[in-house]
Amino acid sequence: MERPIGIFDSGIGGLTVAKAISRILPNERFIYFGDTAHLPYGDKSKEAIQRYSKGISKFLIANNCKTIVIACNTASAISYKYLRDKYAGNVPVINVIDPIIEAVVANGTHKKIGLIATKATVQSGVYQEKMNRRNPGIAMEVLPTPLLAPMIEEGFSKDKISKTVIENYLSNPVFEGIDSLILGCTHYVLIKDEINDFFKGRVTLYDSTDIVAHKITEVFKSENLLSIKKSGDNHFYVSDITEGFQESTSRFYGDNIKLEHLKL
Ligand code: DGL
Repeated sequence: MERPIGIFDSGIGGLTVAKAISRILPNERFIYFGDTAHLPYGDKSKEAIQRYSKGISKFLIANNCKTIVIACNTASAISYKYLRDKYAGNVPVINVIDPIIEAVVANGTHKKIGLIATKATVQSGVYQEKMNRRNPGIAMEVLPTPLLAPMIEEGFSKDKISKTVIENYLSNPVFEGIDSLILGCTHYVLIKDEINDFFKGRVTLYDSTDIVAHKITEVFKSENLLSIKKSGDNHFYVSDITEGFQESTSRFYGDNIKLEHLKL
């Protein structure tokens, strides 16, 4: 049987990444783990986020995963280096930040880019540092937007509440004159259209769905890891299960999926 891809997030936001992977790599089977018992990661300490990420990665490796995809910007910012070093020579570890930075730099036209993300992602400085290293000529303005993920999770999008919150954050003067914006949280894909409307389509938006799935394709090609055909079903585990999480999955994934409860 072909080995699965291991994907994890703090909760169900990473399903937006899982969906893109299933669309772009239809022959791949995956094991998704959403750490709903510890959500949100965005307000947690570095120590806690690293501890959770280690435990989940151990579970994915024990289940024969051929890659670990950190489908969460916060865990990518805080835990990527540790996981990459720990699994070096064993399985590739893919984060959602590097592929976005590469795409922004490859575009070649951006001068001033904005970043919206959780507090932990912004405070880690990882996006700023990576962008500066790859192209110091692109100015980056960052803004933590902690209300967005819970708002989206509670089902507020394309309505008065989401419009007000989005406008409030994005009209921040730091974003004056930006030509592009990174949606630095896997939840934000669900409000991408509204963000686009706010900027009247004049700002290029980057998110961690297709860009990450293409990065995985590239890594799999070079490491000879592509599956020839899909063998078995995907599994979607969560560390805490509620009706609310189950109901939200279809908004994040696009299809109805069945969550399975698993305490690590
Ligand atoms: N999925 C997380 C991210 O991409 C955000 C949610 C959280 O704070 O746990 O950063």
